[in-house]
Amino acid sequence: MAFPSGFLDELRSRVRLSSVVGRHVKLVRKGREYHGLCPFHNEKTPSFSVNEDKGFFHCFGCGAHGDAIAFEMRVGNMSFTDAVERLAADAGLEVPQATPEDRHAQSRRASLHDAMEAATAFYEAQLRQAIGREGLAYLKNRGLSDETIARFRLGWSPDNRYALKSTLMTEQLPEALLIEAGLLKKPEGDSGSFDMFRGRVMFPIADRRGRVIAFGARTLGDGQPKYLNSPDTPLFHKGRTLYALSLAREVAAKANQVVAVEGYMDVIALHQAGFTDAVAPLGTALTEEQIEELWKLADEPILCFDGDNAGQLAMERASARCLPILRPGKSLRFAVLPAADDPDSLIRAKGNAAMKAVLDSAQPLIDVVWKQRIEGQALDTPERRAAAEKDLLDQAHEIADETVRRQYIQTLKDRLYTQFRPPRVFTPGVGKRPFFKAPSGSEAGMRGPDGRLPGIGRPKPPNPRGGGQEKLLLSILLSHPILIESVADQLGQTEFANSDLDKVRCGILKHAETAHGLDGEGLYALLRSDGLGVLLDPLLEADEYRICRDQTDKDAMVVWEHVFTLGTRHSLQTDVGKAIERLGQETSDANWTRLMAMMTSSAKSIEYEDKD
Ligand code: UTP
Ligand code: MN
Repeated sequence: MAFPSGFLDELRSRVRLSSVVGRHVKLVRKGREYHGLCPFHNEKTPSFSVNEDKGFFHCFGCGAHGDAIAFEMRVGNMSFTDAVERLAADAGLEVPQATPEDRHAQSRRASLHDAMEAATAFYEAQLRQAIGREGLAYLKNRGLSDETIARFRLGWSPDNRYALKSTLMTEQLPEALLIEAGLLKKPEGDSGSFDMFRGRVMFPIADRRGRVIAFGARTLGDGQPKYLNSPDTPLFHKGRTLYALSLAREVAAKANQVVAVEGYMDVIALHQAGFTDAVAPLGTALTEEQIEELWKLADEPILCFDGDNAGQLAMERASARCLPILRPGKSLRFAVLPAADDPDSLIRAKGNAAMKAVLDSAQPLIDVVWKQRIEGQALDTPERRAAAEKDLLDQAHEIADETVRRQYIQTLKDRLYTQFRPPRVFTPGVGKRPFFKAPSGSEAGMRGPDGRLPGIGRPKPPNPRGGGQEKLLLSILLSHPILIESVADQLGQTEFANSDLDKVRCGILKHAETAHGLDGEGLYALLRSDGLGVLLDPLLEADEYRICRDQTDKDAMVVWEHVFTLGTRHSLQTDVGKAIERLGQETSDANWTRLMAMMTSSAKSIEYEDKD
């Protein structure tokens, strides 16, 4: 009996294949699969597996393969109908009685299949006859072997209005059926029907089971359209069909990888070159239904786009389309071909290795989403960065699945943080990090100029403006005003990089001549009256000042000399230099003591150097 459409799908989704199989086979779970001894042949080690996600079982020993219904039929030696009824009863589903309309539609579809099969055989035969010589030469010229032509059942439609009609039309395949199948065309008015496809190479399009449901037909010349496709029929829904799905399915599912390319010839060239997991939509952008179909075969199908602008646009559309339907574990990867190539031309010109390289370099969806909004953009103002950020996060909010959405938002925010953080590292010679140099690859964008990821072993950068040492120098003078007169020349020759500290430097210089007679409080009063109080007070509260104040004038002078001489020459390579630098970065008693100890031992060499 025939079951109404939709019922079998419902049944397949309701039954747990592992439970059905588990009644007959002892199954052991391994990741996403179950393994056990095959019930259909004699074996001692398990080669029988059940994939719950994909809903089928497979035996690597004897090749037994199928879904829950097929398992039940075979293991129980039952008819299709009995197996369905048995499974439905187990699943608590009521078996609907087929209505007369259902039965009619069912038999109608059966006849449509017959018509399509007859047409396929007819076109195939034409290609091998004198009338199809031109078509065969064309295919050979495009590098297709006889095996490939046979495997894809390519054919030829003679350039004659009644070639197919006069051969195929019989009582079993009446005119109305051939019209419904899209094989004959009957224009409005009273003129008769005639062949839809004439003078073209025929590419049969099959459903997932391999039954032909439509044709793509290529002209040999420059005529339009290049490819004429069957109209939608009860068998054929363009947006739901993938070219070569029936040929790619098994290989793709086994390897958990499937590749979607743009054209018929691309698929055929790929299969011939050994990439037998390739499929294509039918001249339109991938639909959600087609993406779902790809996900039945692999968790991360690769979409392969031409390197031209049209390919770029198609890639944007595909990425936008799949965001809302992402699920945990299900994504897409994107491969981009060299400009001006499609897979067919690339394989012909550069060979399999070039094609493999393109597929191997496929990028995850998140990178594509990121690049589309960040790469090549001028993001040099807060407003522009905000626009890019908003745009990116808006994209992430398109994701319906809550967990995936949260992960996307998190990842994008992390990347934005890294990307928009001001450059912290100034490395002479390396140059300033370009603010928004496009990242390439998922991690590259997060790396600093030293190639390291943030937070992983990157040294704390030295204060780029030398503020630490400048602060230390000022602290020495503020805590020991008596030294000011003797260092006034040095103080006047230098200029501090930190402009605030430099104002204090100038303020002190102004009072250099009177300073030796002043104590600290007197000097501060003068500086405050010059309006420098705001800059002075934080200095007097800092550690540098506290530590310097505790030193004798003599020790303070020694430190001044070293810090000033070495610090301003940027010759911080010596141990003393490093100790000074450390003191500048973190002024502590311990660092000060260490520095003083070192200076005692190196004082001679420094004096010597100064005399040179
Ligand atoms: P292309 O124009 O890129 O064709 O269209 P192609 O596959 O590279 O074909 P060759 O190499 O010139 O033979 C890509 C796909 O778009 C659809 C077809 O599915 C084609 O394979 N298409 C293209 C049409 O349906 N109609 C057209 O007129 C053109
Ligand atoms: Mn092409």
